[in-house]
Amino acid sequence: MKRFSLLACLTMTSLFSLNAVEIVAHRGFSARAPENTVAAFNLAWQQGADACELDLLLTGDGEIAVLHDADTKRTTKVAKIVRDSTLADLQTLDAGSFKNAIFKGEKIPSLEESLATLPLGTRRFFLEVKSGPEVVPVLAKKLAKWRLRGHQLCIIAFNRQVAQESKKALPWIKVYRLSSEKENKKPVDLTQLIADTKADGLDGLDLGLKWKWSEAMVKQIKDAGLEVHVWTVNRPGDVRRLAGFGVDSITTDDPIMARAALEKK
Ligand code: G3P
Ligand code: CA
Repeated sequence: MKRFSLLACLTMTSLFSLNAVEIVAHRGFSARAPENTVAAFNLAWQQGADACELDLLLTGDGEIAVLHDADTKRTTKVAKIVRDSTLADLQTLDAGSFKNAIFKGEKIPSLEESLATLPLGTRRFFLEVKSGPEVVPVLAKKLAKWRLRGHQLCIIAFNRQVAQESKKALPWIKVYRLSSEKENKKPVDLTQLIADTKADGLDGLDLGLKWKWSEAMVKQIKDAGLEVHVWTVNRPGDVRRLAGFGVDSITTDDPIMARAALEKK
């Protein structure tokens, strides 16, 4: 009987820890809706995502637009360079049809329009800064009114200077450094990356799926007092494997798949 209770307890603990992983909808629910649009964010919230990731870029008129690429060709079929266009110009484009005709007319949202979809509570946005450090003061000004909801935002960036300056300008928001496993074709040294991230006063690392993930790797990062996040995980087996290693969040194009993978016994 005692053995049974212990086993049940261990099983429940492991299920609980798998389900405690935050599921982050990559560019919103981008498997089913056009990436980085209000439709994709709303669908993710409706379907129970814990967080949405979005990409932000500075426009030519000093606004912040939400899209991934430096130009609009792939997602609107019209080529405009974001940093040379006004937000109003960009918002004349159809950013929905490329995914499916039912999304025709969906536009490139501003940062404010994207944030307005976030339900009150504990769910949050991962704001990926794609522009250089010049966007940080603009971002800081726009986020100032979010101070009471700072727990519902975090900033992620590949660019070290962007991450450093974001943390300095917005110390009340968590900032995670993004990193692929290779930089300029050379493997990134995890120990050095951890040391840099600590020296910069950041809150964690957000690493690509191609890193050689293991329980020991996650422990090394956590032992340094940093959170561990991973992108972009689109296979159920990878979701379960990474959750088992103890990552804090999993970014995926398909939050329904990720939830089902975590709940599968
Ligand atoms: O969540 C981080 C991930 O979005 C980084 O890659 O190219 O999809 O922005 P990318
Ligand atoms: Ca991104």
